[in-house]
Amino acid sequence: MQFIGEAQSTPIVWVLLMGKYKTILVDPPWDQKMTGQYATSQKKRKCVLPYNTMTLDDICRLPVAALADDGCHLWLWTTNQFLRAGFDVMDAWGFKYLAPVTWVKPSGLGNWFVHRTQTILFGYKPPLRMNRGRYFPTVLEAGIPRKHSEKPESSYQMIEAISDGPRVELFARPWSPLFPTRDGWDVWGNEVDSTVNLLT
Ligand SMILES: C[S@@+](CC[C@H](N)C(=O)[O-])C[C@H]1O[C@@H](n2cnc3c(N)ncnc32)[C@H](O)[C@@H]1O
Repeated sequence: MQFIGEAQSTPIVWVLLMGKYKTILVDPPWDQKMTGQYATSQKKRKCVLPYNTMTLDDICRLPVAALADDGCHLWLWTTNQFLRAGFDVMDAWGFKYLAPVTWVKPSGLGNWFVHRTQTILFGYKPPLRMNRGRYFPTVLEAGIPRKHSEKPESSYQMIEAISDGPRVELFARPWSPLFPTRDGWDVWGNEVDSTVNLLT
């Protein structure tokens, strides 16, 4: 894999793309800040994210539009701190927002509120075609992740049921040690062997 721009604030340039996708799933490394006591106390050190983050500007600059076929579905994970930014990112990438899907977890963390939810925003590049979306509720109930920021299996099942291939996941992590890539998906990120070419 050729990877550019690992460090925070380094722009990433994608100039050679293998093809266009009908479905793009993105779980960006939002620059999550600790708030309240975590921002000022010793505990802060224990709460750092286990991966590099990116600025909002750098995320907005990702050429995601270049990956999108007409009618492409975009699924964009946000955090509660970056929920509002999620809409800006979707705009910057040229997608139209349609709906949120809320993941409800059995437990959560937080200083002021206990965050037991995370939102994945659904957007699309016109024209919108989504015959199966109406059979799905906008709530996902799934257990606590095994790993920090790992997204639930049910979110992939929902996306695969609603959104056609070809599909790509950006900021992906290995699916499992034995099967690093989920069937039917291209992947890109600094923790996977990317199947999308990213060249300077
Ligand atoms: C929120 S996590 C994704 C979690 C993943 N969706 C899962 O379910 O396990 C963000 C990922 O982006 C990666 N990342 C951070 N900065 C990056 C960069 N500049 N380029 C590519 N990947 C990056 C991180 O290493 C991490 O794997």
